Amino acid sequence: MPNVTLTIDGRQVTVPAGTTVLEAAREAGIFIPTLCHDPLLPGWGACRLCVVEIPGMRNLPASCVTPVAEGMVVYTASEAVIEARRTIIDLLLSNHPMDCLTCEKNGDCRLQDYAFLYGVRQPSFKGEKKNYPLDDSNPYIVRDLNKCILCGRCVRTCQAVPERAVIDFGYRGFNTKVVTAMDTPLGDSSCVYCGRCVAVCPVGALTYKPLAGKGRTWEVEKRPVTCTFCESGCAFDLVVKNGRVIGVMAKEPGPGRPLCLKGRLGLELLYVEEPLKPMLKKDGQFVPVSWAEALGLESILDRMKKVEGKEGR
Ligand code: FES
Repeated sequence: MPNVTLTIDGRQVTVPAGTTVLEAAREAGIFIPTLCHDPLLPGWGACRLCVVEIPGMRNLPASCVTPVAEGMVVYTASEAVIEARRTIIDLLLSNHPMDCLTCEKNGDCRLQDYAFLYGVRQPSFKGEKKNYPLDDSNPYIVRDLNKCILCGRCVRTCQAVPERAVIDFGYRGFNTKVVTAMDTPLGDSSCVYCGRCVAVCPVGALTYKPLAGKGRTWEVEKRPVTCTFCESGCAFDLVVKNGRVIGVMAKEPGPGRPLCLKGRLGLELLYVEEPLKPMLKKDGQFVPVSWAEALGLESILDRMKKVEGKEGR
């Protein structure tokens, strides 16, 4: 593939044709903020936070979906760019709970980081706010749609998994939200709790229930670990606080993204000192059960006993 040379913030950068402006800037060590961009997924261009200024182009293009061109000149932090980013953050905060002090994602939230970076202290747009009930119907994932910024990373990540696509965008305009089929709670959907959506959520809309209240982001350390349950060797993160493993999380995007629920839960059993209690849905409610029951061993044993009785052995 031929190379293309462009100028970003006065620096000459040479990258293969087809590279996006965002990738080229990152290659050169130049920071551009992103919310909806995921390097493992096709370009999306939804949040517009990654806008840059390119003389000759109308408006400010989103760098994550703009391919480089020979001789292109890019400004990543011009006055117009900073003003646009501030307005986007202001708009997002205007329809976002301001409960950072108690949010599970405090210290690990991109919206919070960018609000700090661009000095957006208070939202300036007034009007209606989302008011959805908290969805904690799922035993592993808590969904707070009031904090969702509709970046679509969870939707696209879930849809990239074969036979999943549990969530998608529903409704229109102000009422747009991430929904399951028929907009049921996540616990009633076909979600298998793999946690990939939680790992890619840049804000506090999706959090991992078993870790709720167990430690602030800056108190825990993430240690990469490789699953040994099958030959795929998927990567996970052990969440460690004061030398003790308090949880297992799907890994953030990168090579070796985790692929299955069995591995994550198996590792929880292996490493976490207070492993999760297995739960089964009975009469529409999740109730704690023994591992033998959860794994179906009780029914196998029952059947073996019946066969034994019948055969007289
Ligand atoms: Fe480029 Fe969201 S990161 S549009």
